[in-house]
Amino acid sequence: MAHIHALEPQVTNSNYAKGRNTGTGHKFPDTPVFQGMNKPSRFEGDIYDLEVTGNIPKDINGTFYRVQPDHRFPPIFEDDIHFNGDGSVTAIRIVDGHADFKQRYVRTDRYVAENAARRNLFGKYRNPFTDNESVKGVIRTASNTNITFWRGMLLASKEDGPPFAMDPVTLETIGRYDFEGQILAPTFTAHPKFDPDTGEMLCFAYEAGTDGSDCAADVVTWTFDADGKKTEELWFEAPYAGMIHDCGISKNYMVLPLTPLKMSLDRLKQGGNKFAWDPKEDQWYGLVPRRGGKKEDVIWFKADNGFQGHVAGCYENEEGKVVLDLTVADGNVFFWFPTEEEVAAGAPLKPNRLSSPTHRWVFDPKAKTGTKVSPAFTWPTSGEFSRIDDRWVTKKYRHFWQLGIDPSRPYDFEKCGPPAGGLFNCIARYSWDPENDMQTGEEDVYFAGPTMTFQEPSFIPRNGGAEGEGYIIVLLNHLDVLRNDVVIFDAQKIAAGPVATLHLPLKLKLGFHGNFVDHRDIEEWQKRREGALGPVKPAREPLPWQKALANGQIHTNGVASEVNGSH
Ligand SMILES: [Fe+2]
Repeated sequence: MAHIHALEPQVTNSNYAKGRNTGTGHKFPDTPVFQGMNKPSRFEGDIYDLEVTGNIPKDINGTFYRVQPDHRFPPIFEDDIHFNGDGSVTAIRIVDGHADFKQRYVRTDRYVAENAARRNLFGKYRNPFTDNESVKGVIRTASNTNITFWRGMLLASKEDGPPFAMDPVTLETIGRYDFEGQILAPTFTAHPKFDPDTGEMLCFAYEAGTDGSDCAADVVTWTFDADGKKTEELWFEAPYAGMIHDCGISKNYMVLPLTPLKMSLDRLKQGGNKFAWDPKEDQWYGLVPRRGGKKEDVIWFKADNGFQGHVAGCYENEEGKVVLDLTVADGNVFFWFPTEEEVAAGAPLKPNRLSSPTHRWVFDPKAKTGTKVSPAFTWPTSGEFSRIDDRWVTKKYRHFWQLGIDPSRPYDFEKCGPPAGGLFNCIARYSWDPENDMQTGEEDVYFAGPTMTFQEPSFIPRNGGAEGEGYIIVLLNHLDVLRNDVVIFDAQKIAAGPVATLHLPLKLKLGFHGNFVDHRDIEEWQKRREGALGPVKPAREPLPWQKALANGQIHTNGVASEVNGSH
């Protein structure tokens, strides 16, 4: 009798023809995006009391949340990308030296529509012109990029759509969140920032003017006070329609890095990519006043071409200038969004060999818009996913943690193949020299080993501790056996190795971002929400662009400008 696996070659990828899903099977593509460490996990469930090596510090009492893109159904297009996966949130609840695991998908409108159909209905990443006709007008976001805690709820967010609120204990999705009707824009950043002194949330959106797919340069920034009331809203235009992913906030400013990944509506209509890298374009930084600003007060600085990564810290120095620290790569990190010329030539996609040091920029709020700047200082780290002690957001800080890329370390290619998601084989604490803020300080580095890489770290503050006193919690990818651990370090002793390793009996996906939330904050908000404040209120009305589409006011997924807020 033939072994059952002998049948495999005949059924492999039977549901893709000429790069499109034929609907005849239920199997993911054979591309690297869907295989090995990247293979969809699709797991929802709970694991009580994880196996642990070492000792979980008893003073940790809270939950580490993180989110991963995790396709639920085989995509419409065989060459689909990781960024297009459905948001799935992991919660690691830590208390009294124990840890429990929970994982749930975000029930986005996209999830609900696809769940009913039992198949993928949304086409290419951020291209509504490639969708199934049945989901025209449905909010497309997969909410897969960040998970933040705000006034008793989790917000699962992705910059192409509004956030979705979730219960921080059960991970049940409450619904789309429009800040009780205060935000009507179609998009919302995945990197809201929280001022630790005022309790404010600072947030923004780009491509915000109409339906979230117009490829225009409209940007909006908002501030919410600690009571959830919108106190600031400022609309303006970026120098070009590009990606604005992260931001920095100081006491008086927000800084928006504009990356030379450009959008084009024509390209979308032709079924092409949302973004194309433009190596001739500058990287820009928008300096936006936090209070009472007008659009003419926004100052844009430009610098030589580069690809901005995530922000470490941002603050105002003694001279009133704004310092912003972030990694900047010397080329296109998103190699799956090549230049228009490369697409036209049919060039094969391949990762670029890039250097990604940490740049310190110093912006003068008195400068004229269009001023050309260079980094004030470069720390030759090579990495990404910088984080700080969030109690020091807006303030001059000393420590940041970052995933390091060190190709000089041994890597077991035979067992692991190409490193999924990038060779983040180190984790490091970098501490600025306290005597000179234009000089490198301590480097405290831990190498994961030849078969392992890390995902983004998060900082856990020690109660009452000084800046940087606490722990780092981070996911570890076992690339050889396709499994994950959660690792906890003493934040000041990274090189000493983990104090605890929490063993997951399964493989997750490569996630994007996460945050630790102290359990006292969760409990305090539970009490407030059970009392006079009342439960979290999800959005009650469709967004303006959805109403316009339903009313037949437009023939495509676009609506007239200036409907989403007070421009
Ligand atoms: Fe990000």
